[in-house]
Amino acid sequence: MWFSWLKKTPVYQMHLNGINIPVSEGQSLLQAALEHNVDIQSGCKVGNCGLCKCRLIAGNVQPLPNADNAALDATELHSSMILACQNTAQSNLWLEVAETKRQKRNRDQQLA
Ligand code: FES
Repeated sequence: MWFSWLKKTPVYQMHLNGINIPVSEGQSLLQAALEHNVDIQSGCKVGNCGLCKCRLIAGNVQPLPNADNAALDATELHSSMILACQNTAQSNLWLEVAETKRQKRNRDQQLA
């Protein structure tokens, strides 16, 4: 179909860990980050593990239909923390990952 390329056209930019990433409409922020090899942790991709927690610094997000924020506690739910796997972009975004894969590896090595 001639319009199929429109669905994949990036509509917003997400600034995450110092990298600008295009985010397509309806695409989860985690999907976009993983497609661009950003150093972000992920696991369940359904809102339960909390590995993809990010701080929303600027911009607007839209939860996916049936979004599950089980991994966020009450304080996080009322702050700027979001789950990258459960949200899409509604504007250009500026996010910080709560803990990158590299930071987790370093922390695990220090604890071992
Ligand atoms: S990947 Fe598990 S909550 Fe996002």
